[in-house]
Amino acid sequence: MEQQAVALDYQAVLEQVAADVAPLIGSGRPAAYIPALAGVDPGRFGMAVADLHGTVHGVGDWRRPFSAQSITKVFTLALVLAAGGDALWRRVGREPSGNPFNSLVQLEYENGIPRNPFINAGALVVTDALQTLTGDASSELLEFLREESGNPELGFDAEVAASEAAHGDRNAALAHFMASYGNIAGPVPALLDHYFWQCSIEMSCADLTLAARFLARHGLRADGSRLLSRSEAKQINAVMLTCGTYDAAGEFAHRVGLPGKSGVGGGIVAVVPGRCTLCVWSPGLDERGNSVAGVAALDRFTTLTGLSVF
Ligand code: DON
Repeated sequence: MEQQAVALDYQAVLEQVAADVAPLIGSGRPAAYIPALAGVDPGRFGMAVADLHGTVHGVGDWRRPFSAQSITKVFTLALVLAAGGDALWRRVGREPSGNPFNSLVQLEYENGIPRNPFINAGALVVTDALQTLTGDASSELLEFLREESGNPELGFDAEVAASEAAHGDRNAALAHFMASYGNIAGPVPALLDHYFWQCSIEMSCADLTLAARFLARHGLRADGSRLLSRSEAKQINAVMLTCGTYDAAGEFAHRVGLPGKSGVGGGIVAVVPGRCTLCVWSPGLDERGNSVAGVAALDRFTTLTGLSVF
């Protein structure tokens, strides 16, 4: 039977979700491997929904900025596809890795071609591509996020970026290793700087729901101009569904049933194509780097509303 799109009271749904997941807030642990993130209050929880026109509803800490971390990988990918098209897919795959986000092991077997754009190795290739296309990958990304979110205050967190750089041996190893296969075009030190700056961008749930709207709008930006073709928007949503939560992507698809992208700051962005975007934040992570209360909240949201891609 064909389902009609019914008007939903998003505010009421969010309040219900927040009440349902309250016992889980504080479960898990904030990311410890980046010292600047380890001190974030694990008791925080916020969630927001933006409709296609940019009306945002939220609960809890939905206006409080947090470290977007790997969620930014979605936007970098979008900018590269928008500017450079399909060529990127010769340098990075689109299969789930089944490995932790910072794993090195597959790269040697697979000749320096990362499995997908959302593991760190893949994101480094995408950032390198954006650097080649624009000459200033992290500024280009920040400008795009400011425009789409309508928030000119968005910025980098210098302390987080410095902390990442000081503990960045694994990312440096990934980048140098791929460079040895000819899959990094620019100098590795500059690439790492742009990657760390990109991860350090601070955004709230409200900002992220607005910035991700082009994924629910089949490639159309906030101002109505086209960023991506409908097909490219589909490709990004598909790779979010299959790879956006790393080695937990199968479990996330099973529970939530939406394209989603997590970050070790505790945020997760999810997309209901043609309908709305969601963002949830709670810093306690499970062992695979996804927010415990965040996944549970998205699970509750799709259960309560029936809004999933399935
Ligand atoms: O590369 C890193 O280690 C981080 N700055 C980004 C990691 C991240 O968010 C991956 N996430 N779940």
